[in-house]
Amino acid sequence: MKEITKTYTNDEITIVWKPNTCIHSRICFSGLGKVFNPAERPWVKPENASSEELMAQIDKCPSGALSYYKNNEAKTENVEVETIAEVSENGPLLVYGNLKVKKNDGTIEQKNKVTAFCRCGASGNKPYCDGSHRKIDFKG
Ligand code: SF4
Ligand code: FES
Repeated sequence: MKEITKTYTNDEITIVWKPNTCIHSRICFSGLGKVFNPAERPWVKPENASSEELMAQIDKCPSGALSYYKNNEAKTENVEVETIAEVSENGPLLVYGNLKVKKNDGTIEQKNKVTAFCRCGASGNKPYCDGSHRKIDFKG
């Protein structure tokens, strides 16, 4: 699939959006609806929040579909967050915080910020969610 990248800026930071990577966890628009609203165009309005609010919300995106860089640094930062597991309605298990995932082939993957684990069983990228729960209309 061709990678699509869109950017939105408020002059201080630039938000990078990769629609093909989005797993539709809805975290961005339930957390900061005045900026992220898929019903409107453009769907990202960075002028409606401070850079701090934008960065805090984008750090919660579990898929990496949303990221940002500071315009004068051109670099994305990671944040440390407490480990919390959250069941998202009709979607993945979201685990916030830094964790190591041991796969069944014995390899260990380091994950930071937010990791989305598949609950619906349909992901093509297990144990992680790839957005397939929407295609199969998973309820639970
Ligand atoms: S995966 Fe990221 S961009 Fe997609 S809806 Fe969730 S928070 Fe928003
Ligand atoms: S929960 Fe998202 S693909 Fe299974």
